[in-house]
Amino acid sequence: MASKVFSATPLGMDGKIIEVEVDCHSGNPVFNIVGLPDAAVKEAQDRVSSAIRNSTFKAPHFFGRTTVNLAPANLKKEGAGFDLPIALGVLLETAQIDNIPENACFLGELALDGRLRSVKGALPVALSLKNKNFEELFLPEENAEEANLAKEIKIYPVKTINQLVDHLAGKEKIEPLAKKEDYFQKLIAPNFAHDFCFIKGQEHVKRALEIAVSGGHNILLSGPPGSGKTMLAKSLPSIMPPLSVEEAMEVTKLYSISGKTNGKTPFIKERPFRSPHHSASAVSLVGGGSFPRPGEISLANRGVLFLDEFPEFSKEVIENLRQPLEDGEISITRSQGALNFPANFILVASMNPCPCGNATDDEKQCICQPMQINRYQQKLSGPILDRIDLHSEVPRLKFEKLSSGTLAEKSELIRERVVAARKIQTGRFSQEKENLFTNSEMSSRAIRKFCQIGTKEKELLKNATTKMNLSPRGYHRLLKVARTIADLENSKNIEVSHLAEAIQYRFKEEK
Ligand SMILES: Nc1ncnc2c1ncn2[C@@H]1O[C@H](COP(=O)(O)OP(=O)(O)OP(=O)(O)O)[C@@H](O)[C@H]1O
Ligand SMILES: [Mg+2]
Repeated sequence: MASKVFSATPLGMDGKIIEVEVDCHSGNPVFNIVGLPDAAVKEAQDRVSSAIRNSTFKAPHFFGRTTVNLAPANLKKEGAGFDLPIALGVLLETAQIDNIPENACFLGELALDGRLRSVKGALPVALSLKNKNFEELFLPEENAEEANLAKEIKIYPVKTINQLVDHLAGKEKIEPLAKKEDYFQKLIAPNFAHDFCFIKGQEHVKRALEIAVSGGHNILLSGPPGSGKTMLAKSLPSIMPPLSVEEAMEVTKLYSISGKTNGKTPFIKERPFRSPHHSASAVSLVGGGSFPRPGEISLANRGVLFLDEFPEFSKEVIENLRQPLEDGEISITRSQGALNFPANFILVASMNPCPCGNATDDEKQCICQPMQINRYQQKLSGPILDRIDLHSEVPRLKFEKLSSGTLAEKSELIRERVVAARKIQTGRFSQEKENLFTNSEMSSRAIRKFCQIGTKEKELLKNATTKMNLSPRGYHRLLKVARTIADLENSKNIEVSHLAEAIQYRFKEEK
């Protein structure tokens, strides 16, 4: 009779239980793995055989023919995480161990000497075991801390096959990790590489960035070369509010699936700041692949996606951002179904006004032909610009301002205002039982509820909508930005001044 061991694999943001069945019987010493394995799973036969032999057990070929089935058979399997359950299945089937608890799940890559190596997606796997009658998860030591975030499951860190066999035989027990209450404490990193106090002038850009971060709005910085666009964007992490526990959990899950967590950094505690190069492919940016993985937009979830030199990205890549910018998630469809990854990020894009960069500069002559400028600007289509709430010009600073010795306002002070504005938002949403974090996430229904305006404000909005030929989306986004500006002032109502400021940031889209 075949033996059965339970394992699991990350699938999208969740985990999927995989039954590993092993059958050994007399015949030619062949090792077969079935159940749509990829190359890494197929290679398990060599790793498992060597690991078992080097752990002083009898290798499977000693018993004849071995067949491993990974069920459900219609789901493609990838990676080396099935090594450990396959090895246990072989040991059980060949009566080299007695039994394996039914409520336990096993995961881990094997080194040839029988040690366990880390795997991707330990956290989503651990979380998904909760409602499936599993109580124990055995996995590599390096993944254990991260998996321990799953409160209901006992997590056993395993170093080697021998250690696990001793535990299962009751000889030397492995202690499950103790659960802690405060995994995400000290969420703010004390030192940021950049600080707004070192950026001279550009007060209006800093204000726009403060609004963007407070409400989670997208922003485009445009200006001549060397005016400080990249510097301003890179200073953003220093004014971002700390992650909430729910947000940190979501971000950690995404990093876990991408293999970006390890024993040293099991949790992601800081807001992500991702700045992919403009040569990035569509898949690396939005995610995908035959085993769908999160792309840069999902790794930037709850943080910032900075696309420097925005028009230099390929048009296909830029257009791919349309759906996630609208929905806050990306849906990747494959023949076996669609997988969703969260992609709730603030888009910060920077660009020059023209190929030579000097079109808006008072002091330097622009040498571009009108056609060249057109072609350059047309790389950003209307639908993309419509999704960018704030457009801020970054002019070249005059010598007097640049050479002044005084420091500007510190990031810490700006961050305090941002945190206060976010608190108002989360307070408002939780009071109304809305599952939202920032104003930018409001649906039209939520906008109706939270962005009520008076007669004077309506009049102003009516004029602006007609004059700027705003799309319904543009109209809603304007209201959301105005809501954030009102929150920064701790104002219950959206007033004319808040709307006027929000309108000013959209002004550049006027044709
Ligand atoms: N307001 C400022 N205060 C202090 N230093 C500044 C300021 N603006 C620019 N600089 C200096 O200029 C350098 C270049 O700025 P940055 O790379 O951000 O320009 P940019 O606008 O991104 O240019 P490009 O369009 O060529 O990418 C900065 O590293 C910084 O040393
Ligand atoms: Mg730059």
